[in-house]
Amino acid sequence: MTVTIHPVPSGFADAQSISAERYRADYQRSIEQPEAFWADVAKRIDWFKFPSKIKDVSFQLDDFHIRWFEDGELNVSVNCLDRHLETRGDKTAILWEGDDPQQSEQISYRDLHARVCRLANAMRNLGVQKGDRVSIYLPMIPEAAVAMLACTRIGAIHSIVFGGFSPDALAGRIADCGSKIIITADEGLRGGKAVPLKKNVDEALTRPGTHCVETVIVVRRTGNAVSLQMPRDRWYHTLVEGQPSQCEPERMNAEDPLFILYTSGSTGKPKGVLHSTGGYLTYASYTHACVFDLREDDVFWCTADVGWVTGHSYVVYGPLANGATSLMFEGVPSYPDMGRFWQVCDKHKVTLFYTAPTAIRALMREGDAPVKRHSRSSIRLLGTVGEPINPEAWEWYYRVVGDSRCPIVDTWWQTETGGILISPLPAATDLKPGSATKPFFGVQPALVDAEGKRLEGAADGNLVLLDSWPGQMRSVYGDHQRFIDTYFKTYPGTYFTGDGCRRDEDGYYWITGRVDDVINVSGHRIGTAEVESALVAHPKVAEAAVVGCPHDIKGQGIYAYVTLNVGETPSEELRKELVAFVRKEIGPIASPDHLQWAPGLPKTRSGKIMRRILRKIAENAPDQLGDTSTLADPAVVDNLLNERLIR
Ligand code: WTA
Repeated sequence: MTVTIHPVPSGFADAQSISAERYRADYQRSIEQPEAFWADVAKRIDWFKFPSKIKDVSFQLDDFHIRWFEDGELNVSVNCLDRHLETRGDKTAILWEGDDPQQSEQISYRDLHARVCRLANAMRNLGVQKGDRVSIYLPMIPEAAVAMLACTRIGAIHSIVFGGFSPDALAGRIADCGSKIIITADEGLRGGKAVPLKKNVDEALTRPGTHCVETVIVVRRTGNAVSLQMPRDRWYHTLVEGQPSQCEPERMNAEDPLFILYTSGSTGKPKGVLHSTGGYLTYASYTHACVFDLREDDVFWCTADVGWVTGHSYVVYGPLANGATSLMFEGVPSYPDMGRFWQVCDKHKVTLFYTAPTAIRALMREGDAPVKRHSRSSIRLLGTVGEPINPEAWEWYYRVVGDSRCPIVDTWWQTETGGILISPLPAATDLKPGSATKPFFGVQPALVDAEGKRLEGAADGNLVLLDSWPGQMRSVYGDHQRFIDTYFKTYPGTYFTGDGCRRDEDGYYWITGRVDDVINVSGHRIGTAEVESALVAHPKVAEAAVVGCPHDIKGQGIYAYVTLNVGETPSEELRKELVAFVRKEIGPIASPDHLQWAPGLPKTRSGKIMRRILRKIAENAPDQLGDTSTLADPAVVDNLLNERLIR
């Protein structure tokens, strides 16, 4: 494959940008003298007490610990709000654009500060204390950011659950962390359609394990009637009314938990990824400033929902810690038409635009016209995140959206990493479409083979990280052993990412996708085990196996093999019923794209399902099945091949 190299577009860089020389020198220093390097970076944060200890980390299993800035004290909301009031009080902190193109709102740092303090006071009155958990199940409205920051003000740990998750998925996440409060809305609004959030909460709270919830705070968004259960349910607007607009911030230790965010892994139920206060904020703020070449008058738009980590780090915490203007979008790229992103960019003079490959591919399919109808002249940088971007989509984004004058930062990172780890720096790095390019300061990627042997030079292998960075997750909520087992046991002494990766002769990194049982659907992580357990929960299903398959828009789709109970007959109706069942159990993002009836599944003689074979069948690669001789019943494979759904 020939790779086109795109140098930094002329006219992009200025004296403030990080140059190639500075990147090389600072990267070297960040690896050789991490303590001195990160002590300098930590100065960008306002500390009640500046840390005297910077880094104390060991990935060794007999002495495992990760601590950054450990005796530092700070408050996140003070960093995102109070410290800007003097110089940026009237500057827009959140530029909210509604689902309806007629609705938008500008919230200044001063207003946001007052709104956060009112809610923080109200929550304190409800008995919320430092360390308590608060679940947030909100649409993309300003109250989502207010709720996050209000939690940080009083030291409560928030756990945001994406509004697209079902009542069951929500209930599981509430029960796992024992939330005292839920903050939700009457309904969400996406693409002109209402999402019944309050109704979902009511249903979730009938599930076992959710009695920990004392209060449900309900934001009035659409104003449609919802049932309120007194005294449990409280309207947000009446609760905050009359609350003082000042609120004493809690003094937090750098290693105190900041938030929990559930994410799918290869086994079991979703893990509560736990992030710390000082390390996370320092890292989110610093990566946001460097990777996006941030300037005071930038309008930064990250299209992610706050229900995902990208929304945490680059809609709320990174931008607000940096005193930037962050655009928050309630809607979808296709409503009211396929030009919505660019219409919003023109309307609000967006300068930095950050989205996902799946959105780019969906828009590319509509051709250039919806893009060209809008000027986009304010945009100076483009970014992508969430999954590998295919070079064709990259080139289209570069040429059509960016008019060949904007660098693209393809940023690789994970919920677990808190912030960007591998990415170009826009004024320093020559771009290769499809490559996330080079490690960020302090990040030491390495490739290992299946046995854990380090691969040098140009190579293809499993991506590990040799040392810690401040934004690294600290634990799995309530299960520290699971944290260690999942990430530090596979290749001892390193953090294992779960991703495959190639490094080329120039030292550029090319993420090839997950090597574990996680499917990346439109940039959203779905564990195959979760979909399987949803399917087998159906009374007619005996067994199910789920794998990823290629999908033009979503990157990967969900391909399910289902064995029915004896006596049940496959039918189109039952197929639809099962797909709907998974939707209901987990949420629309987990709906199988393909569901194949499997009279039997390929298993080893010890009864282990051979997913490698199922993956190849779903990829329509019958010639790559490999060795099937160890199967208990090789004939099963012929049947599955004959009936395969993608050809
Ligand atoms: C994938 C999202 C290739 C990867 C921030 C990772 C990517 C998973 C990229 C994490 C990228 C994310 N290129 N693959 N630029 N960014 N990924 O936790 O497989 O939702 O492990 O975090 O997405 O997904 P998560």
